[in-house]
Amino acid sequence: IKGAKPHSYKLPSAIVTLNATEGLPVFTAGQELSQGIEGIFGKKLDVEAAKDVGSHEKKHTTTATVGTVTAYTESDPDAAADLPELLDDGFYLRVSDGNVLILGQNERGTLYGAFHYLSLLARGNTSDVTVTSNPDAPIRWVNQWDNMQDGGTHGSVERGYGGDSIFFWDGKVRDDLTRAGQYARLLASIGINAAVVNNVNADAKTLTPENMDGLGRIADAFRPYGVQLGLSLNFASPNTLGGLNTFDPLDEKVIQWWKDITDDLYERVPDMAGYLVKANSEGQPGPMTYNRTLAEGANLFAHALKPHGGTIVFRAFVYDSTSLNETLDWKADRANAAVEYFDGLDDKFEDNVVIQIKYGPIDFQVREPVSPLFTKLVQTPTAIELQITQEYLGQQAHLVYLAPMWKEILDFDFRAEGKPSRTRDIINGERFHHRRVGGYAGVANVGTNTTWLGSHLAMSNLFAFGRLAWNPSLTSDGILEEWIRLTFSADQKVIDVISDLSMVSWPTYESYTGNLGIQTLTDILLGHYGPNPASQDGNPWGQWTRADAFSIGMDRTVWNGTGFAGQYPAEIAARYEDIATTPDDLLLWFHHVPYTHVLKSGKTVIQHFYDSHYDGAAVAQTFPDLWETLRGRIDDERFEHILFRLVYQAGHALIWRDSINNFYHNKSGIADADNRVGNHPYR
Ligand code: GCU
Repeated sequence: IKGAKPHSYKLPSAIVTLNATEGLPVFTAGQELSQGIEGIFGKKLDVEAAKDVGSHEKKHTTTATVGTVTAYTESDPDAAADLPELLDDGFYLRVSDGNVLILGQNERGTLYGAFHYLSLLARGNTSDVTVTSNPDAPIRWVNQWDNMQDGGTHGSVERGYGGDSIFFWDGKVRDDLTRAGQYARLLASIGINAAVVNNVNADAKTLTPENMDGLGRIADAFRPYGVQLGLSLNFASPNTLGGLNTFDPLDEKVIQWWKDITDDLYERVPDMAGYLVKANSEGQPGPMTYNRTLAEGANLFAHALKPHGGTIVFRAFVYDSTSLNETLDWKADRANAAVEYFDGLDDKFEDNVVIQIKYGPIDFQVREPVSPLFTKLVQTPTAIELQITQEYLGQQAHLVYLAPMWKEILDFDFRAEGKPSRTRDIINGERFHHRRVGGYAGVANVGTNTTWLGSHLAMSNLFAFGRLAWNPSLTSDGILEEWIRLTFSADQKVIDVISDLSMVSWPTYESYTGNLGIQTLTDILLGHYGPNPASQDGNPWGQWTRADAFSIGMDRTVWNGTGFAGQYPAEIAARYEDIATTPDDLLLWFHHVPYTHVLKSGKTVIQHFYDSHYDGAAVAQTFPDLWETLRGRIDDERFEHILFRLVYQAGHALIWRDSINNFYHNKSGIADADNRVGNHPYR
């Protein structure tokens, strides 16, 4: 529709913003509408600031009126009766014969409404519409794992594949935060309302006065888009930065130190969203250092934040990466850790605590069962942690569209107390505690690269994360089409090709990496990239496969294994306990079986490995040719950038295929029924 003739669509003659203050989202909404409409129709509309609706509406034949519900109804009390109830951040949009009304429940919601209207126009929908839209959950945050500096000067991004930090440089907040503002704009366009800007493995010096000033500047860059600042904390800061001789969460000095720091931060950032804390995990300090519970640790921050209305998001990714011993202890299991650590704490958290739980019990693998902790915290609000950055999933060098995986996770029914209990209904509060407090956290890790994530196609994942956090009922392919139309083109061929590639990408990646729930089989010790099944075992990281010459898989049954299956509600526990009812795609997650075990498909485990790797790698070989059919239909720059990655992926899929197949062929000594494995490398 870009370049469409204004006369073919009845545009409003002016944009009228109600009670707009420069630097806040209603003002931004006016600017975005003007800029967006000019971009699409080539016609610049004036933005007029108004205190009341009437006078301006009289001046123009048609207007786009933009503001909060409160501002609108104050200026026209009679209008209230016609408006729907909106939840926090929700919006109402009415387009009727050239008149447009965009009302937000709050400032931010107004901006979301403006973006929604622009999205409709940009996708060619110029019909009259009435839309009422509310977010599914209040926490819709991204997490950035940005370091303030990394040995040298640059601020790197842990598990980031799109360049350096857009926030930090040389141990400080960057002077130029243009990109931070652009990021906030991107996030607001998909309904994200907060961004935690620093690594969960947090650096105490984030909290020096100079850096707190810098954080204030980041918040200023975010504010026009309604994105609130969040901050990761290092639990030991009172000691390492504050000079106290302790960081015990029950010590009065420590409590006072965090209160003072929090007050200082809120002076600079009055609308700060809150904190994110990783404690007692992978060497990070935490309350357990002082024999205190995780709840006592979380509540320390809850108390400091409460007067300011802030939220403490406390991570459930807690495990000890030093003490697990695979060879000596058949029952040792990192997957058990989260439920064990949070056992008995459900009624111990303050009401501004949210527990952030990774979707699976290990670590962002290509397939994991959904974490049972979601059903153990029934009084405490929870948020699901999804990973937009593709740490174990090809690091943006492989195309893996993640919405289908996320949908499976969000729609998973735990059958708690024998009743429907989908993950998505637990995190939005509907299923257990009926408080709208939890939601969605996406580890995004964008960087300075002009593509943000290092790959153009990977941005569909950031888009899908925001859209699903707003509305988990949306379909994966529907979200994708929306994104393709907004990002590339309305050309049906472009839509079809990118959709085809993306929708097969997750199963394809799973096929040529780790099958049957054995995890992704990347190199565990070196960067989580490329095939290295041997690296999974024989170390305390706990991502074990227990592969030997005859058998493979983690026995997580209650009767004979680690007991993990028993952490689920009864129906699901029974399903996973029994090999006959465990789905094939999670077989090796829950059971230790001979390579000759016959799957429901009729194949043996080992033959499934072989075939799946050949099939998956073969599909990846088709990607570059499919992409070639778009030559000339999108700009050359993005075309070539994407082609390069798809060619690389096709090659790397062969490396994956042969590495994994040869490894298990050597280990088991079992021949491939089709006599491919070990015979024709890289053919
Ligand atoms: C993974 C990741 C780490 C990260 C950790 C976490 O293990 O590899 O880089 O710190 O998760 O989520 O805390």
